[in-house]
Amino acid sequence: MTPSTMVARCPAKVNLALRVVGCRDDGYHELDTVFQALDLWDTLEISDANSLTLTCDDPSLPVDGSNLVLAAAELLLKAEGGRPRGAAIRLRKRIPVRAGLGGGSSDAAGALLLCSRWWGMELSIEEMAELGARLGADVPFFLYGGTARGRGRGDMIERMPFIGERPILIGLPPFGISTSEVFSELRVRLTHPENGVSFPLLSAHKWQEENDFHIAANDLEAIVFESRPELEEFRDALWRAGASSALLSGSGSAVYGIFRDAGQMREAEAELGSAFGRWALLRTRTEKGAAQVVDPGQQPR
Ligand code: C5P
Repeated sequence: MTPSTMVARCPAKVNLALRVVGCRDDGYHELDTVFQALDLWDTLEISDANSLTLTCDDPSLPVDGSNLVLAAAELLLKAEGGRPRGAAIRLRKRIPVRAGLGGGSSDAAGALLLCSRWWGMELSIEEMAELGARLGADVPFFLYGGTARGRGRGDMIERMPFIGERPILIGLPPFGISTSEVFSELRVRLTHPENGVSFPLLSAHKWQEENDFHIAANDLEAIVFESRPELEEFRDALWRAGASSALLSGSGSAVYGIFRDAGQMREAEAELGSAFGRWALLRTRTEKGAAQVVDPGQQPR
């Protein structure tokens, strides 16, 4: 029997490390990054309809072709010969937007999985990752999940051993950040040598010796912190509260800390909650899975 609906869960991510190693001719930057999936999920639900439509419980998000969920569905149809098909897709948004947590990219990966299954298309993960990379540099990661290294634009994925289940505290300032603005500011600095910024300098600017991973550095912090010092203060407060690693995620605006155990994280949460009254704090943990189609009865967290 054909089910009347199908559901996909789409996880958030943080970057455990992010190195910018070059400028590319296509306007993007060459990266070397380590992604980590989080137990924080958006949900997509698909059901029958004559035309392709998207609705979303967050009214601030577009529901036209500029939303990566619809773009993914349309790309799939095009790749499979262009026969028009219908479906009503509902997006339940829980991953904060403009935060560097990858929500839009993860939704796109979830849409590729969900729509291809719904329409009976047989695509491998590699084929979906190839399509996903056309939608956004972070999309392929969400098809692999767990802990993974991303090179090229961040879209060439290599699985890594899962770092294990660890509590993570995410801090969200009362504003979002545009990824393309951060990268274009970085490009301006890099392409004007008199600014004194260079790739080796970027990549060496901060190695934390005292963390569990020995990889905690994000080359975008220098650009982002310069105009938003509150983010650096929050990151430093996470370190002082005992985080094993504390970093800006992607281009921000989320700043996260990884903790040894839940007790230590709750202490940090209480401390930072009172010191950073305008910030929202979100408790989560590392996740070893990826974007996935689930049983509709399985209630997403
Ligand atoms: O691929 P995506 O649309 O998610 O990227 C958003 C923006 O971030 C791009 O338009 C680009 O300006 C910048 N970017 C970059 N280099 C990367 C990834 C993203 O310059 N490797």
